[in-house]
Amino acid sequence: MDKAKPAAAPVTPRGINHLVLNVRDLDESHQFWTEIVGFKQVGELKPTPQRPNPARMRFYSGDRGGQTHHHDIALVEKRDLPEPPKDWSMYGGAPLAVNHIAITLPDRESWLQHLEYLQGRGVKFDRRVDHGMTHSVYIHDPNGYGVELLYELPAEVWSGDIDAALNFARILPTEGAEALVDEAEKNPIFKRTEAVAS
Ligand SMILES: [Fe+2]
Repeated sequence: MDKAKPAAAPVTPRGINHLVLNVRDLDESHQFWTEIVGFKQVGELKPTPQRPNPARMRFYSGDRGGQTHHHDIALVEKRDLPEPPKDWSMYGGAPLAVNHIAITLPDRESWLQHLEYLQGRGVKFDRRVDHGMTHSVYIHDPNGYGVELLYELPAEVWSGDIDAALNFARILPTEGAEALVDEAEKNPIFKRTEAVAS
């Protein structure tokens, strides 16, 4: 690299590596992120001579189909966080910095299986939406952070016009048997229509 000439533009990153959340009660949040979301704990902060009294912090990872990743999410206990809101809402909810965190399930079948599992555990679905690029259910963690569990639609569905796919939303039932129905065949294909020069 030519040191005398700094780059004119930043490198575009690959994406988000991991997310660290402040939580009021580490054990309560551990239960949510392992038993409800399904992540596995892979580590925790331990005392060292340089850091004899570390914060209570644990690290969690998903399953990337054999691809190793050290952690997707970590939790840090911060007991003085404000009281969590009773309900979660995407646009009109409590004044929390985190709106929602989206978690990808492996595929449509496992996503449907997970929805059934959540309903069986009595987890409230705050919102269910077919977006143009994902089918999603929204729940919330014990701190009031929204959690979107989704499966991805094939890239050919949304890559032709990502903005249109992002603006598309079909709101679906959140309770009972209807909340477990997924109509994958109804997905529109998003394509930019080119203006025809006359
Ligand atoms: Fe989202």
